[in-house]
Amino acid sequence: MFDPKFYTVTSISHLVESRNGDSMGAQANLAYQVERLNALHNIDLAIISNSDPYVVLGTVLDQIIPHLKVDAATILLLNPQSMLLEYAAGRGFHTAALQHTHLRVGEGHAGHAVAKRRIVAIPDLGAEAGDFTRSLLLANERFIAYHAVPLIAKGEVKGVLELFRRASFTPPMEWLDSLYAIATQAAIAIDNVALHSDLQRSNLELARAYDTTIEGWSRALDLRDRETEGHTQRVTEMTIRLAHTIGMTQDQLKYVRWGALLHDIGKLGISDWILFKQGPLTEEEWLVMRQHPVYANDILSPIPFLRLALDIPYCHHERWDGTGYPRGMRETQIPLAARVFAVVDVWDALRSDRPYRSAWSEAQVQDYLLAQRGKQFDPKIIDTFFALLSGIGLLS
Ligand code: C2E
Ligand code: SIN
Ligand code: SIN
Ligand code: FE
Ligand code: FE
Repeated sequence: MFDPKFYTVTSISHLVESRNGDSMGAQANLAYQVERLNALHNIDLAIISNSDPYVVLGTVLDQIIPHLKVDAATILLLNPQSMLLEYAAGRGFHTAALQHTHLRVGEGHAGHAVAKRRIVAIPDLGAEAGDFTRSLLLANERFIAYHAVPLIAKGEVKGVLELFRRASFTPPMEWLDSLYAIATQAAIAIDNVALHSDLQRSNLELARAYDTTIEGWSRALDLRDRETEGHTQRVTEMTIRLAHTIGMTQDQLKYVRWGALLHDIGKLGISDWILFKQGPLTEEEWLVMRQHPVYANDILSPIPFLRLALDIPYCHHERWDGTGYPRGMRETQIPLAARVFAVVDVWDALRSDRPYRSAWSEAQVQDYLLAQRGKQFDPKIIDTFFALLSGIGLLS
């Protein structure tokens, strides 16, 4: 009735006693406990400092092997979709045979440990029929003693830890206690790592989806605007360089980029006959044109992931001296991203043909920007921009 191969994970001690496991002396026991703490701590460190699941699992095995005095170990992870146990990490093998392991739950010793949620202890692998294929593959490794421990976190089996020794072995009680503690820690590590990589993967996929969407919109906007070829790309690139030089962080730059790509999205609300008018705008037409940043706010503010990208579309026509639109903000009331972008947008607009005028010369453009230093533009940003232009050989 009671199968001596199985120890339930939660009640190791009395089962071990019933198997007459040796106990260590008090001194050795203390040293062993300290070692165990150290091993657990190193696993914790690996969990905290690594996002690469294979590095974390490798570290877990590096701690386990000397501490539990085994010759080799693997971690097989349970793939929740396929319900197969798949090789994730291994140490101490002479051959690569086990790296292709795919076991069904219930199949072989490891599959058994998972199915029964119990430690499987095999004193002599040669005397037991395990998983046939793996037995053949393992023959050259000359393992004798074997343990498979289910890795359970939050009540779910995450995988299985397998331990191999090339000598026969009757584990002392402390060894099984350690095994239990380390298996628990390893299960937590796996749970965290899986969480991590799922999150990272979905964040990455989302970030790509956002980028693709925004670039698509941006190209559609340029088509509508009949913007000079590449205006938005050029302005975006230069804005990023300037913002980076000014010291904005990578995270801020992401929103600067999106904001720049979408800076004139509000022009979607301006009718063709005003947008493409061949001459100066009347007073009434200007009232309409000055609404385009407000339209941008209307379009973008309901979209949560674009809220932080709003500064540029909403505030790029504000002026340092407070005479801009739509809100007449002044100086540092104007979001930094918008102050940076305004300089680059006007620089590029003036160098380009417009329906209402032809392109200005480089010298004319630069004279204009300098003349507007402290009026239309943040003086510090103008200075940084000129340093940047000079650095890339664009200063005339
Ligand atoms: P835009 O053509 O992309 O110009 C962006 C900004 O560059 C302008 O914002 C302005 O600050 C600067 N800029 C562009 N061209 C000139 C120029 O010839 N002289 C000077 N001093 N600055 C220039 P702004 O003025 O708020 O204009 C916003 C948008 O309104 C412009 O975007 C353009 O679409 C439209 N717009 C502006 N002026 C006229 C105009 O005279 N005729 C027509 N049809 N549209 C105009
Ligand atoms: C916004 O309101 O979100 C952009 C402009 C500002 O920060 O005042
Ligand atoms: C800041 O306003 O955050 C400093 C950058 C500048 O205004 O030039
Ligand atoms: Fe604009
Ligand atoms: Fe523009």
